[in-house]
Amino acid sequence: MIYLDHNATTCCDERVVEAMLPYLHAMYGNPSSLYKLGRVARSAIDIAREQISALIDAPGARIVFTSGGTEANALALANACGLGLAISAIEHPSIFENAEYNRQRFRQLHTLEVNEAGAVPLVSLDRANWQAGDMASVMLANNETGLIQDIAAITEHLAERGVNVHTDAVQALGKISFSFKKLGVKLMSLSSHKIYGPKGGGALVVAEDFVLKPWLRGGDQQYGWRAGTENVAAIVGFGKAAELAKAEAALRGVRVLALRTRLEQALRTIPGLVIFAEQVKRLPNTVQFGIPGISGEMLLMQLDQRNIAVSSGSACSASSGEISPVLVAMGVEASLARSAIRVSLGKDNNETEIDQFVDVLKASIAN
Ligand SMILES: Cc1ncc(COP(=O)(O)O)c(C=O)c1O
Repeated sequence: MIYLDHNATTCCDERVVEAMLPYLHAMYGNPSSLYKLGRVARSAIDIAREQISALIDAPGARIVFTSGGTEANALALANACGLGLAISAIEHPSIFENAEYNRQRFRQLHTLEVNEAGAVPLVSLDRANWQAGDMASVMLANNETGLIQDIAAITEHLAERGVNVHTDAVQALGKISFSFKKLGVKLMSLSSHKIYGPKGGGALVVAEDFVLKPWLRGGDQQYGWRAGTENVAAIVGFGKAAELAKAEAALRGVRVLALRTRLEQALRTIPGLVIFAEQVKRLPNTVQFGIPGISGEMLLMQLDQRNIAVSSGSACSASSGEISPVLVAMGVEASLARSAIRVSLGKDNNETEIDQFVDVLKASIAN
């Protein structure tokens, strides 16, 4: 099988599985227990926090482990209740749907318009009616096009108004290097399964000077903000995946970018093919393209028959057959948006796979 859908999920790295296994069996202690078995689990969680903190350069920030990126996003937005919230028009459904569902709980819910590349221009920020303490949620990298947002410029622009910025860094993590500290955000969402860690693990990173509202009440785990016995094995796996991502960042980055360059060169020879957000900073592993007159969903199924896995957009909306709201927000015409295919490369892909994908793609289009 040729797997080209790493923005949907990744295969858990063997070294991650190895690190997790002891915490599913021999080291089964409750991290809140005071005796040795519990302390072993507690220190494993502490190490994972350090590994994640090192990957994102977040000294002093508190890392609240969650069940994944979706929960981290929900937790972040819950902290805007009673306040104004603005989200960009290209956010992941876990932001968009949560914001819509809770609309009545915010003083106002504003959508930040994006330009044709999907970026939030600073003038767009000025159109919201801000009050001090409000929250803006803008993703660091888009899951469909791979567009990288200038979050540092956004936080700087909003700082004088006293607006707190949350960023969904689920897709950026492990694919580009960034600094939580330098971005200036108060909250950041992360997910483990996008970086070769286990599914069902994620985190909300909380700046030192930000006090979270309690999310799950119960025991005093996780600073009293998210009660419940921690999923130690998943946290250990997430930490190990973060450690590997940091150690192998340069190598992974260079490899996937070389593969994507090879792929894009081949794609550009296909008549009419459009690469979305082509001219702006994108994740090195991601390319989303459309071919006028071709159904992306049909193409996806034809590729699947040849054992090639790609996506038509966000994994969460792929089965609904709707047009990508991200492309709509970018002003892409509906028929072109309907033809969208997203290829997202991973650390273990190779040139032969890229060439085979291009051959099958060309043959499928010709049919
Ligand atoms: C940008 C973005 N945010 C959040 C999520 C949700 O993460 P999880 O699958 O860990 O809930 C995803 C998953 O596709 C994503 O791409």
